[in-house]
Amino acid sequence: MRDINASIPFDKRLWRQDIAGSRAHAAMLGAQGIIAAADAAAIDAGLAAIAAEYDAGGVPVDPALEDIHMTVETRLAALIGPAAGRLHTARSRNDQVATSFRLWVRDAVDAVDAGLAALTDALLARAAEHADSVMPGFTHLQVAQPVTLGHHLLAYVAMTGRDRGRFTDLRTRMDECPLGAAALAGTGFPIDRQATATALGFARPTANSLDSVSDRDFALEFLSAAAIAGLHLSRLAEEIVVWASQPFGFVALPDAFSTGSSIMPQKRNPDAAELVRGHSGRLIGCLTALMVTMKGLPLSYSKDMQDDKPPVFEGYDLLALALAAMTGMVATLTFDTDRMRAVAASGFSTATDLADWLVREAGVPFREAHHITGRAVRAAEDAGCGLADLPLATLQAIDARITAGVFDVLSVDASVASRTSFGGTAPANVRAAIAAARAAA
Ligand code: ARG
Repeated sequence: MRDINASIPFDKRLWRQDIAGSRAHAAMLGAQGIIAAADAAAIDAGLAAIAAEYDAGGVPVDPALEDIHMTVETRLAALIGPAAGRLHTARSRNDQVATSFRLWVRDAVDAVDAGLAALTDALLARAAEHADSVMPGFTHLQVAQPVTLGHHLLAYVAMTGRDRGRFTDLRTRMDECPLGAAALAGTGFPIDRQATATALGFARPTANSLDSVSDRDFALEFLSAAAIAGLHLSRLAEEIVVWASQPFGFVALPDAFSTGSSIMPQKRNPDAAELVRGHSGRLIGCLTALMVTMKGLPLSYSKDMQDDKPPVFEGYDLLALALAAMTGMVATLTFDTDRMRAVAASGFSTATDLADWLVREAGVPFREAHHITGRAVRAAEDAGCGLADLPLATLQAIDARITAGVFDVLSVDASVASRTSFGGTAPANVRAAIAAARAAA
């Protein structure tokens, strides 16, 4: 029973939040005349001393004390005597743990946001460096049209921007304090819930006592946002793994972010990227674990809810580490822009530009232009060259309306430079998008 009941091995991580909640509660009890001012002062001094002890030496783990709340209260009694027994007036561990956990998740949201901001900065810096660098854009992982590397990196800035928005949204929604809901029904003591909410940095107290002790939406939202952010990191990690592979040869990772093989001395493996990809799977597992824990629980508190902490702690740790590793990789990897440019020019990637030229310059309907372009691609394939290398006479034999002006659009640089529609890949757009993202930060 002792072992299955104990959460102290993992919830000791809540010690700062538990002590902050208790100090706010004791101050409120004193101010409301529910406990004597001298007792409130003794409790506050004792809690401050415990915080200093834990800061210096960690939290002692005694499974007989079950959790961080009992551990702190027991230590308080040892330090200040019977006055410690007054701290638990007008509260329960149910609202206490809900408050501590919310405070912890709120700090985690802020830390994740800082990590996402750092990754965004790294992506913007590399995008600025490569606003003009040409790479192949893919659909179906087939070379489709040339794009700029800056534009490709900015796609991830769009993702991290939405990720930060999700964390900001959930932080606003969770900005309510459950302390004072007591066990489940509220209390008959004249407590001031707005005072404790304000002292702990919340906008207001939660509105329903039953919901206060049984709601874990804030943790589910945190893990949902974390799982999506992790999934974005995983997609970028997958691209790094593919790009670092020899047949692609688009990027090289520095020694700091790659590892060797124990038997193949030539190997440089993208382990950090692979682990970011792997961590994202575990993160989705954390979200699933808590969803399944919560789905069948009747109101209000059930002990199953003690199992909310391990997946949230693990999910946070995984995401924080993945963000740090990804930021390091983005900042330090080397792009082989010559190789990227060469592949961008392969696969007749400017075929759409030829079709668009026929529409624009010769008034050909797009469907017909598409057909003419298909014949030009076949001619280039037969000749074993790119579209831009076909003699004008060959192109004119396919369609007499083609003139020498077409060669202005067949290069990869001309192709990307022409894509100036809002959100398009042109270098000018990339520079404007970077400026806009920096202005919004
Ligand atoms: N250790 C418990 C948890 O983490 C604290 C709340 C205990 N409440 C109770 N009624 N047994 O959820």
